[in-house]
Amino acid sequence: MTMNVKQNERLRALTARLVLATGARSDEVFGVNAPLRVCPVGAHVDHQGGVVTGLTIDRSVMMAATPLPEPIFRIESLDFQGAVTVELTAAQPAPTGEWGDYARAAAGVLSARRRLDQGLYAVIGGDLAGAGLSSSAAVLICYVLGLARANRFDLPRRDVAALVQQAENSYIGVASGLLDQSIILFADKGHLTRVTVSDLSVERVSAHEGAPEITVVVAFSGITRALAGSGFNTRVEECHEAARILLDRGGRTAGRRPLLSEAGPELFDRFAAELPENLRRRAAHFFGERRRVIDGVEAWRGGDLTRFGELMSASGESSIRNYECGTPELVTLFELLRDTPGVYGARFSGAGFGGSCVALADPAAGEEIANAVSRGYAAAHPDAAANANCHLCTPAGAARFVGGDD
Ligand code: GLA
Repeated sequence: MTMNVKQNERLRALTARLVLATGARSDEVFGVNAPLRVCPVGAHVDHQGGVVTGLTIDRSVMMAATPLPEPIFRIESLDFQGAVTVELTAAQPAPTGEWGDYARAAAGVLSARRRLDQGLYAVIGGDLAGAGLSSSAAVLICYVLGLARANRFDLPRRDVAALVQQAENSYIGVASGLLDQSIILFADKGHLTRVTVSDLSVERVSAHEGAPEITVVVAFSGITRALAGSGFNTRVEECHEAARILLDRGGRTAGRRPLLSEAGPELFDRFAAELPENLRRRAAHFFGERRRVIDGVEAWRGGDLTRFGELMSASGESSIRNYECGTPELVTLFELLRDTPGVYGARFSGAGFGGSCVALADPAAGEEIANAVSRGYAAAHPDAAANANCHLCTPAGAARFVGGDD
């Protein structure tokens, strides 16, 4: 993935600060660039063993790092105050709710798998922190890749994805699935990445030759929200409960945390009416997304961005009506984006409990879309609009090592 001017500048700034702090020589420094992801269709299905789609954009989390001879992980951030020190051979203390939790989470899951004798000094910095574009997964990927490299072992990307999920689930306390990590780790520029979460199989779907270029519009609501403590985990539990009831009605044995993908669309068609209303809606979202992913991949393959965009907006609609997530600000942004000429489709970016809306759009209309959405948003939510912004982004590739000897 080629980095843009801003990313090159950021890598230089990260490296300069690292060299100042450690005195490392340039050949002892490496970088990691982890791009942020968007998910046009296949949202809120990853924790239920569903199939997701995604692509990455030219906004990212980046890290410059150098190995340390002792098992200490020390991190500074361009975006957050203070430095964090993590002992790699000790059990990690309880989370504190601060940015250092991500370093402790990564160290905890990786050291449970491999002994980490070597340490790492890192400086990290990124775009759009807390805007719902998976910056948490991007940060964890930087840490896991960096610590593994300092200890001279390679991890298969599937293992990195699983470790990052484990870090989020067990330490950060978010019951997230594998969407964010797998798109960041497997994306390929110009392709829609389709991931079957149950076996982590990946297909990179190229668009039909001659398919129009796209711009990814990211409209940040001005309101950040950490997923831990939001309604995210409650929704996940509701999906498990819906799956348990469907399996039960179908005479099938449900495990401790049954998945809607195990129940399947047939049981939903037969027993939907027996689900309590809130659980019926969650399941309706899951099985609707299942269909939209199948249709969306075909539309993308055929270069039919109009159809693809309709499915993306239908997915956004279902997040509001069936999954019942989204703040009033995000719903406004969704409607503004969806209804602006030049936009193929729109939806909430991540979980929809704060953060951003994203749209796929015609690059020629990008500036006009950004202006129209900013104006409409300022009129509807003047307070939030003070911190809001709109970014025009281009599709990018997967996380990778950058700079140094690479
Ligand atoms: C967040 C989570 C993901 C996924 C999305 C919604 O980004 O981290 O695992 O559930 O929300 O699709």
